[in-house]
Amino acid sequence: MDSIVFGPDLALGIPVLDQSHRIVFVMLEAMESLPRPAFDQACRELATEFIEHLREENSLMERIDYAAAQAHRAAHGNLLERVARALRLLRDNEEATARDVIRTLPGWLEAHINTMDLALAVAVSRLE
Ligand SMILES: [Fe+2]
Ligand SMILES: [Fe+2]
Repeated sequence: MDSIVFGPDLALGIPVLDQSHRIVFVMLEAMESLPRPAFDQACRELATEFIEHLREENSLMERIDYAAAQAHRAAHGNLLERVARALRLLRDNEEATARDVIRTLPGWLEAHINTMDLALAVAVSRLE
């Protein structure tokens, strides 16, 4: 599968979000070639990065009293659950399945950024 690279097409124009999106795509691409246990450690770092990033987006939604916040937060919950599932699989030595779960993330993120995050960025720009 071709890797998804963060480029201008995925930029939202909100630096704190763009920077974090860039970081997670770089992390995900690097994880492809990581053996264990470095892969496990990278999974934990990915979870931390996502938690920080999603907290940032969730608080942005709160600040602007965003109408679609509930659905957007639910999507973030789905993302965190995927990473948590990968970590559980690694703990149970189900490495191949854990890697399959992680491989779903670039496509998930690309679709999320192009829809929900983009809609949020548009809502933010209208208030500025
Ligand atoms: Fe995002
Ligand atoms: Fe989001």
